[in-house]
Amino acid sequence: MFTIMSLKILGIESSCDDTSAAVLEDTMMCSNVINTQKIHEKYGGVVPELASRAHQQNIVLVVKEALEQSGYKLEEIDLIAFTKGPGLLGSLMVGTSFAKGLSLSTGKPLVGVNHLHGHLLAHMLRKKGEEPFKAKFPYLCLLVSGGHTQIVLVKDYLDFEIIGKTIDDAAGEAFDKCAKVLGLPYPGGPVIDKLAQVGDAQAFDFNKPKIKDLDFSFSGLKTSFLYTIRDNLKHNPSFIEVNRDDLAASLQRTIIEILLEKLIKAVKLTGVREIVISGGVSANSGLRQGLTDLAQKESWNIHLPGLQYTTDNAAMIGLVGHFMYLSGKLCDLDVLPQARLNFTDF
Ligand code: KG4
Ligand code: ZN
Repeated sequence: MFTIMSLKILGIESSCDDTSAAVLEDTMMCSNVINTQKIHEKYGGVVPELASRAHQQNIVLVVKEALEQSGYKLEEIDLIAFTKGPGLLGSLMVGTSFAKGLSLSTGKPLVGVNHLHGHLLAHMLRKKGEEPFKAKFPYLCLLVSGGHTQIVLVKDYLDFEIIGKTIDDAAGEAFDKCAKVLGLPYPGGPVIDKLAQVGDAQAFDFNKPKIKDLDFSFSGLKTSFLYTIRDNLKHNPSFIEVNRDDLAASLQRTIIEILLEKLIKAVKLTGVREIVISGGVSANSGLRQGLTDLAQKESWNIHLPGLQYTTDNAAMIGLVGHFMYLSGKLCDLDVLPQARLNFTDF
């Protein structure tokens, strides 16, 4: 009698300011360790040089911890999957070099994963022992992070098409930049989310973009937000302090409306009613509630990733690695990290 052995995957993620490592048995997660670098908080944004240094400092410990938590030894791992791009080059180089070194010293095969591909599948992550997720294709993924805002039509694990994208800022950038105007710490998204829960979302109106098709724009909203504050501060120096919660709630409402209006359009155009959100902004409580309400009204089937999988993590990289390995998409030891990586390149 044959026993089908599971594929043990070590995932490594270092594209921005999270150093992460995870171990998966096929698609099921045995560990997922994330070290979010705190050093950037005082600078109001990610400082690339400091990010690569912190990755260098963290990566060995994070990988060791992920292996320990999983109960597997390095010798038992069958595949190493790492983030090849897109992201900060210095940060990507740390994860890439580490993965290549491991592959060279152990002889294990290597897979270079597109970070955004990880976000597309992140909602499928389940811990070992939980009920596995049953994927249904095609689905629409609203990918909203600090660097990206896209609507992707996902036809299969390795087959997808970007059908809408931002022409300027990402949704997360809009949250972060407007939060900075309010004097809030970085990253601003989670702080705005918290303030918005007690603010009046109808208190202020900000300009919404008129962009054709399924594309997004957030730079006009940022300017409109800035001008509202600048004009009001002229008459009332404590305008921000007095209105902080209402400004946060109104900003959040506007961003959510922009995102959901395009999603409605995407469903109309494609006829696809299976909806997923992912990326850091998909942790936003207003967006999750707004999408849940909309799904009920429009009879959509939605999948919200667990909060721990909305942000950057290595488990989603390992998951993609699993499907790439099954399709024979391995890479050689001369693979290079790519700060700009075409989404559909493997
Ligand atoms: O996906 P992510 O962790 O990193 C990349 O950009 O790839 O996303 C980070 C972004 C930041 O802009 C952060 O402000 C935003 O996600 N974010 C949120 C929330 N949590 C994180 N934005 C709004 N509401 C949140 N709860
Ligand atoms: Zn990301």
